[in-house]
Amino acid sequence: MPYPKRRQRNCKPSRLSLSDRLDVMNRLEMDFQQIFNAAPDIEASAPGRVNLLGEHTDYNDGFVLPTAIPQQTTVYVGHSPNDRHHFYSAELEEWADVSPSESSPQGFARYIYGCIRVLEQIGYSIPPINLFVTSSVPIGSGLSSSAALEVATLRGLRSLLNLNLDDVKIAQLGQQAEIQYASVSCGILDQMACSLADTEHMLFLDTRTLDRQLLPFPTGAEIVVIDSGVARSLADSSYNQRRAECEEAARQLGVKALRDVSDPQMAESLSDPLRKRARHVINENNRVLKVLEGVSAEAFGELMNASHASLRDDYEVSVPALDQLVDILQNTPGVFGARLTGAGFGGACVALVKGGAGKAIAETVLNHYNNAEHRGDTLVG
Ligand code: GLA
Repeated sequence: MPYPKRRQRNCKPSRLSLSDRLDVMNRLEMDFQQIFNAAPDIEASAPGRVNLLGEHTDYNDGFVLPTAIPQQTTVYVGHSPNDRHHFYSAELEEWADVSPSESSPQGFARYIYGCIRVLEQIGYSIPPINLFVTSSVPIGSGLSSSAALEVATLRGLRSLLNLNLDDVKIAQLGQQAEIQYASVSCGILDQMACSLADTEHMLFLDTRTLDRQLLPFPTGAEIVVIDSGVARSLADSSYNQRRAECEEAARQLGVKALRDVSDPQMAESLSDPLRKRARHVINENNRVLKVLEGVSAEAFGELMNASHASLRDDYEVSVPALDQLVDILQNTPGVFGARLTGAGFGGACVALVKGGAGKAIAETVLNHYNNAEHRGDTLVG
């Protein structure tokens, strides 16, 4: 099969008119056609997400509060003419050819292949496919580019093969693909957000029961997301270590998971670092539950500021660039509150700001933040 070299795509959020978007879609279908010598059978998409509160709580059976972002991952899928899967990433300009019997590939292909394998594990027979992926969700910014790819892939396979999967099952399968094929012992936050959230609401989710509610944003507020320019990698980070520490803390406190503790004083019986890890998780769960009572933009902002301090001091997943960016955000007029978002160790910060002021605030903040050391960028705002 001839594999043409592709041009780099723009990773900015789409602000195109409907007719321009149709043009882009036609062009992408043509790209699929050029690459695979056939038209795609189906197209499916999923958004990235930003988590507003409830960080590192999901693998403790706790509470989270994400929203979808405008950036999306789209897959075009068709049947492969031979006995191999063929995947192509337009942004990375990378190919992967995988035999269904091979062990897992690396890079972007492992997420797609992981989705195929977890479907097979629950009894579906997946024929060899051609899959073309294009995405505007930034990679390595803590905005769930991998979950968006998993959910888009699973939606694509659901349509192509008429699989009986609801959106919660898709999220659970995406999480399994990530755990088994990307070696990250993640919780369910990202895949549930990419599968069930929209850009108009906050998705409150109880990660133990999967009970959920779509909530309005605080009155008079909007969100801004700024990339710190410091890329992070979950697998390279101490993510799995944090998870193990929380499990040990729960064991020592005699509970199934840290979600079962609501009084932060309980953590004081542990020794460090378990004491600090447990204190973060207990306080962070309480912050998300506070939002359910209905809070003003100012009160929500204070919860975000407290969340950042806790992630920095107790959970120890911040880095100096994130602290500086959050500090600038918190001291900019019109900002109600700001924090790092996602797993930490780099990536993006999220802020709640005065409605209508997001773009101007992001520009002011980047003027302060960007210098010889930092190259931040506005992702939402
Ligand atoms: C990553 C994981 C999620 C969650 C966050 C931290 O995004 O994939 O499951 O644990 O980190 O809140």
